[in-house]
Amino acid sequence: MQELETEHLWLRQFRYEDLDRMAEIFGDPEVMRFIASGTKTRSELEAAFPAMLERWKCQEFGMWAVIEKASQTLLGRCGLIYLDGTPEVELGYALDKAYWNRGMATEASIACLRFGFEKMGLERIVAIAQPANIASQRVMQKVGMTFEKNAHYYKTDVVYYAISRNEFHSLHG
Ligand SMILES: CC(C)(COP(=O)(O)OP(=O)(O)OC[C@H]1O[C@@H](n2cnc3c(N)ncnc32)[C@H](O)[C@@H]1OP(=O)(O)O)[C@@H](O)C(=O)NCCC(=O)NCCS
Repeated sequence: MQELETEHLWLRQFRYEDLDRMAEIFGDPEVMRFIASGTKTRSELEAAFPAMLERWKCQEFGMWAVIEKASQTLLGRCGLIYLDGTPEVELGYALDKAYWNRGMATEASIACLRFGFEKMGLERIVAIAQPANIASQRVMQKVGMTFEKNAHYYKTDVVYYAISRNEFHSLHG
């Protein structure tokens, strides 16, 4: 699995020693408010670990652990997954609320999109959010994605954004 580096962040694989911190972040109802799967307990996260590691082996992509370089703190996750059982690849992110609105999701997302376009050779990456999730849509807009349609995934009404490889490269080089 490839690790990614940005100006302020390391993106690396999750490790079992992250579990306590993961439970703090992904067990927080405010963080998980707009995520259809909802909050996760430490034991649920632990139980999901082997499948997550296996997915990384088979697919060579997934959700990276986002680490702030300066403090070595795990901030949350960002990465690429299949959109609700479709062949489309979706950008996703969730960070500890103490770190919101510092540009970290945008910085991590650009690295993940670059990985998707340059290493995986994807032509297009999509993202979805519940309409009330303004922060998430703002990240999509800031990375250069454009709104395409209202849609329904994960049993939820969502807005659906996308970016092509050419669009990404003309914006981010
Ligand atoms: C979505 C999320 C990852 C964004 O992370 P982040 O690091 O705060 O994102 P950024 O700082 O890069 O950008 C956030 C943008 O949203 C804006 N924003 C946040 N809340 C907002 C609100 N209520 N109204 C308007 N704009 C808002 C911020 O001002 C910022 O935009 P700006 O740079 O133009 O000022 C974070 O809010 C989060 O983890 N949310 C919970 C999990 C989640 O909902 N994930 C997405 C599921 S689709």
